[in-house]
Amino acid sequence: MTELRVLADPAAAAAERITSVAAAAGHIVLTGGSTPRAAYELAAAQEVDWSGCTLWFGDERCVGPADELSNYRLARESLLDRLPRAPRAVHRMKGELGPWAGADDYEQAVRADAASFDLLLLGLGPDAHCASLFPHSPALAERERLVVGVEQAGMEPLVPRVTLTLPAINGAQEVLFLVTGADKATAVARAFSGVADPGAPASLVAPATGRLTVLLDAAAAAQLPAEARP
Ligand code: 6PG
Repeated sequence: MTELRVLADPAAAAAERITSVAAAAGHIVLTGGSTPRAAYELAAAQEVDWSGCTLWFGDERCVGPADELSNYRLARESLLDRLPRAPRAVHRMKGELGPWAGADDYEQAVRADAASFDLLLLGLGPDAHCASLFPHSPALAERERLVVGVEQAGMEPLVPRVTLTLPAINGAQEVLFLVTGADKATAVARAFSGVADPGAPASLVAPATGRLTVLLDAAAAAQLPAEARP
């Protein structure tokens, strides 16, 4: 069951879910890109004890953690550095190892420390990719591994990636997309109209037992078919 919510301030709704799971000492997977920055800053400003929660990453660019392309750097600047008490653990994806060495390293960490992910955040690219799962990518066919390398990114930044796979994403208890802006409207319609399409990887996100929620602003929701509109 997919819940689509069109909101004036989807970042605030995302921040509420993030802080609620953090306060409950859950395992939270952070997304990269630029959209989540506002949600992370709002979450960091809440009076919440993060010391019991564990943070993970859904994907990472194969750059160092201080690189301006790093998803870890985004999270550090907008969330981690603003928390009065550090989380129990922050598992950084070591993109600097390269796509497959980084994926192997993260696969070990996930299998060792995460029974399952309580909240998994995702963004959506204009091509309907999520994490670093790009249209028609071989990574979409992975059914065993939880983390894979992506040598060829399907969109800017065109650097290799490390990404969670669909089995890892669909094993989460709650998947939460945060999508804003008119430039995502076509991708939203392709991703959430109910048709599973490898050309629109986000349409393949279907948690086995967890719930799927899509937080949208009106601009991103503008091309949803009437029957898919909330
Ligand atoms: C990444 C992200 C990616 C992102 C989308 C949307 O590493 O780039 O994880 O999946 O969520 O590309 O990015 P924006 O929020 O910048 O539009």
